[in-house]
Amino acid sequence: MRRTHNCGELNEKNVDKKVVLNGWVHSSRDHGGLIFIDLRDRYGLTQIVFDPNVTKEGHSLAEKLRREDVVEVKGIVKLRGKGLENPNLSTGKIEVFVDEVEVLSKSETPPIEIDDRIEVNEDIKLKYRYLDLRKPSLQKNLAVRHRAIKIVRDVLDNENFLEIETPILAKSTPEGARDYLVPSRIHPGKFYALPQSPQLFKQLLMVAGMDRYFQIAKCFRDEDLRADRQPEFTQVDVEMSFIDRDDIIDVIERMIARLWDEILGVKLKIPFKRIRYEEAMDKYGLDRPDLRFGLELKDITKVVEKSDFKVFLDNVKAGGIVKALNLKGCGEKFSRKDIDELISFVQIYGAKGLAWMKYTDKLESNIVKFFKEDVQKEIIKELDAEEGDLLVFVSDKKRSIVNDALGHLRVNVAKKLGIIKDGFEFVWIVDFPLLAYDEDEQRYVSVHHPFTSPLKEDIRLLEKAPEKVRSDAYDIVVNGIELGGGSIRIHQPELQQRVFKALGISDLEAQEKFGFLLDAFKYGAPPHGGIALGVDRMIAILTGNESIRDVIAFPKNKAAESLMDGAPSEVDENQLRELHVKVDFFRKKNVVFDKIIDALNKEKIDYEVMEHKAVYTSKEAAEVRGTELRQGCKALICKTEKGFVQAVVPGDKEINFDKLKKILDVKDIELANAGDVKKVSGCNIGSVPPLGNLFSIKVYFDKKVSENEIVAFNAGSHMRSIKMKFTDLKQLTNAVIEDFSQ
Ligand code: AMO
Ligand code: AMP
Repeated sequence: MRRTHNCGELNEKNVDKKVVLNGWVHSSRDHGGLIFIDLRDRYGLTQIVFDPNVTKEGHSLAEKLRREDVVEVKGIVKLRGKGLENPNLSTGKIEVFVDEVEVLSKSETPPIEIDDRIEVNEDIKLKYRYLDLRKPSLQKNLAVRHRAIKIVRDVLDNENFLEIETPILAKSTPEGARDYLVPSRIHPGKFYALPQSPQLFKQLLMVAGMDRYFQIAKCFRDEDLRADRQPEFTQVDVEMSFIDRDDIIDVIERMIARLWDEILGVKLKIPFKRIRYEEAMDKYGLDRPDLRFGLELKDITKVVEKSDFKVFLDNVKAGGIVKALNLKGCGEKFSRKDIDELISFVQIYGAKGLAWMKYTDKLESNIVKFFKEDVQKEIIKELDAEEGDLLVFVSDKKRSIVNDALGHLRVNVAKKLGIIKDGFEFVWIVDFPLLAYDEDEQRYVSVHHPFTSPLKEDIRLLEKAPEKVRSDAYDIVVNGIELGGGSIRIHQPELQQRVFKALGISDLEAQEKFGFLLDAFKYGAPPHGGIALGVDRMIAILTGNESIRDVIAFPKNKAAESLMDGAPSEVDENQLRELHVKVDFFRKKNVVFDKIIDALNKEKIDYEVMEHKAVYTSKEAAEVRGTELRQGCKALICKTEKGFVQAVVPGDKEINFDKLKKILDVKDIELANAGDVKKVSGCNIGSVPPLGNLFSIKVYFDKKVSENEIVAFNAGSHMRSIKMKFTDLKQLTNAVIEDFSQ
């Protein structure tokens, strides 16, 4: 045995014992004569002391020890002198006087400090993840993750669940994201898909009579990444036979209560609240409401119908709605600039504007004149307005835009006002709609997946009024975060067929895609249902982390790369040939994209990379990005007699060359041709990013671009966009803002 104790273990009971410790040199202090070193391992820190009177040789070796060297020391445990104790350390009462030391391995100067208090650039941390993981905070996160998963296993084991592994090389399942594909060598042109979830397999396990299944399952989804989304993530995946919704909810509630109790010492009250989807949307605008504060949305369509405000009336006439929030006390607190920020904020979610009224002893704002006194009174009453309140309104033809904009605004303002309570507010969202109409595809699509059962009482509406059918699906939400979701499944082939029909899926297509499941249902399928909880999200909540990256040992960055091992990477020509894969080399290396990402990361700027189908117009780009046309940056390279400049206008505008000429003080100006664009920027027309500074030309933003909080642009490729804050973009490009669009 190398060591007798670990570095977090020794205390006053071990005094005068001879011990052997192994660990990393965390820090070292030379107090002329004595050298003090904090020795670190996963369990803690122990102070070790080198006294030249005890070991001359050891003392001179200690002088040469550097941070992160790995050593073994033998020595005697002593009590620290009075006043020298460290109450923050479990070993703070003692120190070890070393009589022998051996260097087990030397460390070069580490590129990052092993210290939670020091902020380090995210990409450097990810590149040296094995060093970052030495930090106590990350070690704790992974330890909590281990314990939580063990508790999950214990709880489910106790309830008769079997842990069963399902394939990773599988056929694509319809969860709604893009698949990661693996080419088959022995079947040219054929692919496996990495599972987006084990959905179909767990249902087949029910047909197989396993009764109760669970798995700590790796899932893979190629989607746009955010703080709470990774391309590969983990679920506690559960399926049960001969049950209904309440049985699943009950198991999961007891499991969550155990986790919160054992890990945080928090006693949650179960059963959790349940809110119908419709009510959640009405009151909170989102299907993952944060219930730690009030600030509910109010539908005031009926009231404002009696006003003369055209914006509202037009939307109502077109079948839309008007909803409002009463921002208590913000009438005084919020300046005009604050209100402008709220306006740009709702625009991110597609709202055309945000109307507002301050209530002093009467309502005040530029639009109050359109509301007669009795209508004003009704608004005041409906919204419980008191002096000092700020009332804000969004209307739109589309209910979903009003809800999304105000739902997010509600959370944003609550954060600003600091009215979010501590603690955990769990809630089940139930009775989701089964189907949603997809305008692009001109057909109904599943809100969850096509195997979700409709509520019994709504089955009769499947053909007559598909949009009215509710599903037996449920999501578990905590503090505004969707922790998990599941449903009771369809187990009768006839009902499944009716749902496929409603979805516009032909028999042939159904057979091709999930024939194996439909076939299985022909041989006696038990009624069944299940759920999956996001493990990464759950651990992030349990450890108080915003990003799930902090609870995953080796996460990917926002561009879905692992900077440590360099995945994804290019592969050998031979490997490709064996797999019958040809690579489109133009896409393979994109110098401009890499340059942009490097610049953003260097400045620690937040951004989102989106991969999409090739787009060639601002309109197409806005569609695939899900942004407004005016948020897109048309980054046009212009040729003048003085050289090239870059002029950036919003996607819905053009350059007014007369204005731009004046601003630049030039006589001639025209758009650069394709050849010049390529030469100057390295990009093809239509994919130039608004970062002319990266290829050494001056950038001018039109004022209208700067009115967006969030902007998006093609990042050197027709198939990649970046979304980021305009203020960051302006700073990064050192751009000038002028008025030159039309
Ligand atoms: P769903 O798609 O809702 O359901 O996923 C369940 C839970 O998994 C987590 N999650 C993610 N976590 C991190 N990164 C991601 N990219 C990511 N995507 C999802 C969320 C989510 O609530 N088969 C169904 C479950 C069922 O019906 O039983 C499913 O996968 O916390
Ligand atoms: P406008 O007629 O565009 O000048 O808008 C007048 C006021 O109504 C401004 O305060 C806008 O922010 C607001 N507004 C415009 N469209 C909407 C909308 N869809 N919902 C709420 N307020 C809006």
